This record gives sequence, C-alpha cells and structure tokens, in this order.
Amino acid sequence: MGFLQNGRGLASYLVMPNTFQARRFIVLGSMVSLLLLIALWNQFSVDGPTRPAGTRLAQGPSTPTGKRPNPFTNPLDEVRQTPASIRQDPLCSFHPDTSKIAVVMKTGATESFARLPTQFMTTLRCIPDYLVFSDRKETIAGIQVMDTLDAVLPKAMEGNADFDLYRVQASCAIDQGPCTSALDRAEMGWNLDKYKNIHMAEKTWKMLPDKDCVALLGDIAFAHGGSGYLMSRAAMKDLIGGHPGLANRYDEDMHNYCCGDAVFAKAVRDTIDVNVTGVWPTINGEKPFTLPYGDSHWCHPIATMHHMSPEEISTFWEFETQFYADEAAEASRKDADKFVPSPSSPRISIENSSPPDFFPGATTGTT
Ligand SMILES: *[C@@H]1O[C@H](CO)[C@@H](O)[C@H](O)[C@H]1NC(C)=O
Repeated sequence: MGFLQNGRGLASYLVMPNTFQARRFIVLGSMVSLLLLIALWNQFSVDGPTRPAGTRLAQGPSTPTGKRPNPFTNPLDEVRQTPASIRQDPLCSFHPDTSKIAVVMKTGATESFARLPTQFMTTLRCIPDYLVFSDRKETIAGIQVMDTLDAVLPKAMEGNADFDLYRVQASCAIDQGPCTSALDRAEMGWNLDKYKNIHMAEKTWKMLPDKDCVALLGDIAFAHGGSGYLMSRAAMKDLIGGHPGLANRYDEDMHNYCCGDAVFAKAVRDTIDVNVTGVWPTINGEKPFTLPYGDSHWCHPIATMHHMSPEEISTFWEFETQFYADEAAEASRKDADKFVPSPSSPRISIENSSPPDFFPGATTGTT
C-alpha cells in the first residue's frame, strides 16, 4: 500500500502546485479509464485543507429524500446519482466527496454496452455528477448516454465519410451489433471520435456549470486510446462561456485533423491563450499490472490509467474501495477521541477501528 497516499510531496511534484487555485488551467494526458481522480482532487481542494480520511462518515448524511427521482422523466436524468443516493450506498461510504468535479466520459455506440456497465458499477458509482457522451443517444439500464454529435453543423456532416458510422448507427432499427458488424468499426469509430471533444465541453458547461473542475475522459478502446484532460472551472468559463458557438467553428475543418484532443488543445490555445500542461504520472499511460516499481511512478496520486479492461477496472475499484475503508479505520485508530460518527447514520461505522471487509474472497485485499 502507499501509492495512493495523499503524500504531501505531490504538490511539489506536479508542474503546477496549486493547479486548482490557478485562474485557468488545463492538463492533458493519454488515458482511457478514470481511476482515483479522487486522490488527485483531494490534493487540490479549493475549500481549504484536505479533509482527513474518514471525515465523510462524521459529516452525517442528511435523511434520504422521501421522493425517489424518476430516472426517466427527471430533466437531469443523465446524472443518475445524487449525493443522497451515494450516501446510502455502503460501498461509497468511504469514497471521498467528489461533488465539485464533473466527470465526463466519452464513448461510442460500437462499444458502449461492452464497456460502460463496468464503469457504472465501479468507477462512476460513487461520483455524484457524471455525464456520458457518445455518437448515439441511448440508455444503458436507464442511464442516459447522450449523442454528442447532434450539435455538429449539418454542412460538416454532409458528404463527409467520417460520419458514415454515425448515419448507420442512427438508422439501425435493431441492436447495434448486427448493423455495424460488417464495417471497420475501429477505424470508423476513430474517425468519428474527434468531432466530439469540443461539443462535449460545450454540453458539459451547459449542464454542469457549477463544478470546480471538469475531467473529460475517453473510454475508447481503439489502438491509440482516447485522451483525457482536466479543465478548471475558470478555463471552462473563459473558453466555452465566453465563446458561444466555439465547437461549430471547428466542425468543418475537423476532418483535416487526427485527433479530437489535439484540436481541443489547439482551440484552448487559440481562444484563451492557455497551454496544456502534462501531469505525468498522475495522468499516465500505464495500468496496474504494467506500472513499474520505483520513485518515478509510486507515491503519487493517480487520476487515470491507460487501456484498462473492464476486468482491470473492476479489480482496481475493489482495491480502491477497500483502501479507503482501511484508511478511515487507520485514521479513527489514530484519532479516536475526535472521531465521532454521526448517530443519524451512516450505515457503516467503523467499530473498534476494524474496517469492513467489502469484498471477501477478492484477490485485491490490501491487508
Ligand atoms: C504556449 O506555447 C506556445 C508554444 O510553445 C508559446 O509560444 C506560448 O507563449 C505559450 N503560451 C502561454 C500562455 O504560455
């Protein structure tokens, strides 16, 4: 254990120590799956000192709202979880509060059903506000997946082979698999993917304007992966809020570029004169089983890793969840006098400083 620890050394490691306090910033890295953004976020909390592990318990959840939101009619039904519902989820009991972060996933209809269910059950489970953008509007077990490309200029789509897959998907009357199985889905999905990035940022700004930070993450399994980046609220405000119609300005030229994240970086620089900054290894190209040992990769929070399979995401999330519980138990042992769980709940309290064993039999135990 240890590499998740909120080491004080992180701040001096990162290129921009007080990144989240800086007026505007953007960081970029190659990634596919969101992991432990939370650990990163704790480093940069703008609300003062990082909360010690376990304080979430002591906050005491408010009583569950009597009315259960209807996921099919709620106007914000793209955002399924609410802080209240997460507080009632035992597995989220020890996850840090990420309600100030908008987590934005990018995917495509050729793989959304293969990849997103795992994300919903794990990585996104304890995130209060996330949005999922794709190249087709669909629901996955009631969770909304939005069509990012419905805002692309029609004249940029017309006669543009990059949108062939988009059109096939839209006209498919049955499940997507048979409709696209004869196509080169990887190639066509990749060509379509780059049109999404700036539109995603615009839609996110419109739907979740009050977040301190926006994490835009790819979940694309193509050869070179997607990319992800973090945007501060100030950067979003300047870039998107201050420049209506920005995404449409890039629609027609997009076919000349390889990748959506590169164009996004260009748009940020051209529009608000902010450069992308790398924060390796917080955003890195490894995954748990390829992470080298040594100072370079360990003892730093990790926000995302690369090309994580659903199995790896699940394994890692089990580890992460147990890790937070163990940390809370450790904190309560050290600080027994001050640690007073709220009587009104939560459902899980740490009796005698012994953490709950969330995943008995799992191969990911941390003890
Ligand atoms: C961004 O990078 C470019 C090219 O390296 C440089 O010319 C420019 O001054 C940088 N802008 C800022 C705001 O740092």
